[in-house]
Amino acid sequence: MALVRLPTITHHETRFELRIGLLTGGGDCPGLNAAIRAVVKQGMGEYGHTIIGFRNGWKGVVDGDIIPLGRQDIRNVLPVGGTLLGTARFHPHASDGGIDAVLATVEAERLDAMICIGGDGTLHAASKVADAGVNIVAIPKTIDNDVEGTDLSIGFHTAVNIATEAIDRVHTTAESHNRVMVVEVMGRHAGWIAVNAGIAGGAEVVLAPEDPFDMDAIEKFLRHRHRAHANFSIVVVAEGAVPREGSSMNFTQELGKYGEIIAGSIGERVSAEIAKRTGFDTRLTVLGHVQRGGEPTPTDRILGSRFGVAAVDAVSRGESKVMTALRGESVVLVPLDEIAGKVKHVPAELLRVAHALS
Ligand code: F6P
Repeated sequence: MALVRLPTITHHETRFELRIGLLTGGGDCPGLNAAIRAVVKQGMGEYGHTIIGFRNGWKGVVDGDIIPLGRQDIRNVLPVGGTLLGTARFHPHASDGGIDAVLATVEAERLDAMICIGGDGTLHAASKVADAGVNIVAIPKTIDNDVEGTDLSIGFHTAVNIATEAIDRVHTTAESHNRVMVVEVMGRHAGWIAVNAGIAGGAEVVLAPEDPFDMDAIEKFLRHRHRAHANFSIVVVAEGAVPREGSSMNFTQELGKYGEIIAGSIGERVSAEIAKRTGFDTRLTVLGHVQRGGEPTPTDRILGSRFGVAAVDAVSRGESKVMTALRGESVVLVPLDEIAGKVKHVPAELLRVAHALS
């Protein structure tokens, strides 16, 4: 994959004023406000750019629904979850006249470029809008951490913290009551939260979309564990986990209007199946949107800030159709064409650790 190393920009090396549109799209997550704040601070402070925010993602661009952003708007937002711009799951290329409406707003607002903060859907839309001639720099965010091309996306670190704390809490009550506790976490296409929080929280079983599970094997494992050395177990299930084809448990995932998973469906099924097969007292906790709310961790605040600064620098250099990405210790740019529509899956090595420690 081609990488563009970011050159160090010295103060006022590049000084020309641009009008930059800014949006957050898709599901919200902690750390978005840190990125918005960084775009405004770096854009206005370093370059004298004007930042025009759009309400509710691409929908706001189509509707021309703007919020001019100044320093007063970003005061005290660093520790605040959600996004001060609002967000929506709306894709202009999927609605009639959507791209034309985006172009009309870009012209009406005299935008030189746009910075789009989002996950797979928003980035895909960004790529389509760039194809229509708009200069775009994207920033990856999603608690699922499944955006290709970057080690981390904004929001993931906080979600893993929340899920780990929840597993820790469930642990003590599981032990007190001799129960099997099933904890369902988010992760539609990839099991990053399940695997990381499962390892950190010491889960006995971790089920991820990357590795279809076998309910017979889980039943056998739990029976053995409870007979041999424990009276409780924690089972972490990613919402996108599925049983292995041809295995003894049939399951078809229920999907919502935008293809989103209905929270609780696989968790309920796994928990009912364990209770039925083993007779163990079993309870389900669905973490759901708790994982997406509240204060970002310092890591997400720092990541959002770094991506925000890098995106403004990139726009100011005339870069377009690229996304900021973390690679090791560095923030780099990757071409949107190389990542749009792809899913970054949990590698086999990490899955192995989750299974080895069960
Ligand atoms: O943004 C990713 C995500 O949190 C997924 O993990 C989850 O399946 C989905 O969003 C939920 O979407 P919504 O908030 O629209 O119900």
